[in-house]
Amino acid sequence: MAEQVGSLAELGWLRLDSLGDDPLMRELLELRESCARNFTRLMTAGRPDEAELTSTGQYGFTRDGDESAVALREVRSHLVINQALPESHPLAFLVPTFYGDHLTIPGTEPWLADARRLHRVLDLLTLETMERIEEHLGLSFGAIAGPMAMGERLLRFQWYPALPAGTDEVALVDVDGGRIPVGGRLLADGGRRSRVVRVGPHRDMGHWTWQVHSTDSQLRFWDHRRQVPVPVPRGDWIYGNVCEFLEIEHPRLHTPIHWVDADGGSGDVDRMSISYFAHVRPGVSRQRLVWGVELYRRLAALGYATDADVEHAARLVARRADDPDLILATLDWELANPAPVPGFAAGVSRYYRRRPGGGGAPALRDRADAGSLRDPAAAQRQPDPD
Ligand SMILES: [Fe+2]
Repeated sequence: MAEQVGSLAELGWLRLDSLGDDPLMRELLELRESCARNFTRLMTAGRPDEAELTSTGQYGFTRDGDESAVALREVRSHLVINQALPESHPLAFLVPTFYGDHLTIPGTEPWLADARRLHRVLDLLTLETMERIEEHLGLSFGAIAGPMAMGERLLRFQWYPALPAGTDEVALVDVDGGRIPVGGRLLADGGRRSRVVRVGPHRDMGHWTWQVHSTDSQLRFWDHRRQVPVPVPRGDWIYGNVCEFLEIEHPRLHTPIHWVDADGGSGDVDRMSISYFAHVRPGVSRQRLVWGVELYRRLAALGYATDADVEHAARLVARRADDPDLILATLDWELANPAPVPGFAAGVSRYYRRRPGGGGAPALRDRADAGSLRDPAAAQRQPDPD
């Protein structure tokens, strides 16, 4: 892992190998296979109706979508299986804008339990990886993982139908100073020519993404040092990448451009993939940016959210206490509810504690007494005797 985290600082992505006998990675492989199989069945046997709570594309089932930063058409549908919070949880007032509602999409019931288990495994891997990054950068324990604990999480299943007939071509696309070669298809549509790709080159918003699974090896990361695309082969591993907000907070970490090529006949068949997006708690702020609000600003810029959604998100975050107060309330809640919330591997009490005497903002715990995230007692802690 140390080596992978080292490459992360330079390239912006890392590969977690599941080789060896890591029971957690074995569980991840089994769950991703089962979820992929069920999602494929859902998309080929009759698609779900678009759910009502999809105005921002954050939850439920959404047809099509376009995250491309450039003028390339993308055709895909996606299904987000969210992790709702219990009503009594101090962060539950942020449901459903930031955390999903208790929403069941028709056709997903039989595999909802597996999807939630996959959520939990990925939450654990996220926090474990963030703790390693903190160590690598010489930061205090919880400097990155602390704000991400109990943050918004999206497990998103993407379906890309086979591309319409046309001419395969490689377009050179300028993104953030890189000239990216993207394999796509040129369509002659009633005299109008348009370019279609699987996924156009982009950088992820938010803090962290896992590229959990795909049915082909067409995902590419851009190596900005060598100015070449790097393919991401399928296998017993998953890829993680830094997102823009994390780079703003820690400029030594690079947010990589990535995309999905449609060359070599890969555009002729349906494609599916699974991603997992890990955000900080919505009220976490840095340099006067509140990340939950920034997230909705970016969603609006991409056409997923409206200005009204952004205003609503901003009001929601401002309406209640600041993040430090919410951490204190969550510490109390976790004391009364010792098991982690379904879909999460750890609570905020792994990273924070009340100060002696109980007053003021919460303090970060020490790395030395943190214990392993894989030990349930260390994932959600009882308060220190002080
Ligand atoms: Fe992405």
